Amino acid sequence: MNQITVHSPATVANVVCGFDILGFALNEPNDELTISLSDVRGVTIINEDDYQLPTKAEDNVSGAALLALLSETPDIKGFQLISKKNIKPGSGIGSSAASAAGSVVAANILLNNRFSKEDLVRFAMFGEKVASGVKHADNIAPAIYGGVTLIRSIFPLDVISIDAPELYVTIVHPQIEVKTSDARQILKQRILLKDAIKQWGNIAGLVAGFINHDYDLIGRSLEDVIIEPVRSILIPGFDEIKLKCKEAGALGGGISGSGPSIFMLSQHASTAKIVEDVMKDIYNRIGLAYHTHVTTINKQGVKQIVL
Ligand code: HSE
Repeated sequence: MNQITVHSPATVANVVCGFDILGFALNEPNDELTISLSDVRGVTIINEDDYQLPTKAEDNVSGAALLALLSETPDIKGFQLISKKNIKPGSGIGSSAASAAGSVVAANILLNNRFSKEDLVRFAMFGEKVASGVKHADNIAPAIYGGVTLIRSIFPLDVISIDAPELYVTIVHPQIEVKTSDARQILKQRILLKDAIKQWGNIAGLVAGFINHDYDLIGRSLEDVIIEPVRSILIPGFDEIKLKCKEAGALGGGISGSGPSIFMLSQHASTAKIVEDVMKDIYNRIGLAYHTHVTTINKQGVKQIVL
């Protein structure tokens, strides 16, 4: 095969209490990426969407990830990448990770899977560095592995797939942009021990809740005493949405990645739809444009498609 097309999924990073270490992949929305080998050295990027993302490889999330991969493939001269983004940059549902992860997975299929998933996460993190200034893998790992992932460490890389029960995810994306780099800069660099204790109790509880398929424990553990109080002020209606969605039956939720999207988990599809209506009502009242998605956890991650 000389051309590979993949769908690369949106992801929810942090999962409320697990800043930079927890994430899961979504079945909707997806970016579409098509890659082929090229005789031109480096990465040639063609954007087939309206986002006007950079086409210089070093400045482009996909480009940076593919250049990292190329640095370990001396037999390959270059790639051509056609990118059709459906995941809006700056939305908080892993737009940059979808580009980076999808590109390296597609390239790896083209190269007969010579690299491991861990290698691909390592390459894709170069893309995240372009997007946010730091390497983090809590969007990339779930995009590549599928399901819920725990990043125990990035240096050295240690990714653990976490089993999780059937869950419905409702996302609302208010049409404002929050840059991950800005949302990281406002965070406190020092935290109180009492807050750290609460946070690691919740992270452990959430992981145990996923593994034991204990929906109540998942709900109780979706609490963030460190990041959310700082970042939520950037998102209009955040507190009301969280409160009303939980009253409507959601297990819980919070900021998706660095925002502005908000996600809620529900045990049943019918609840997830009601939660969507609650989100819509609040943003209609506030008068802020938004998009919503009701979806489920994507267990496969980036997948090859036949056009
Ligand atoms: N963990 C990262 C953050 C995710 O919250 O800054 C950004 O997509």
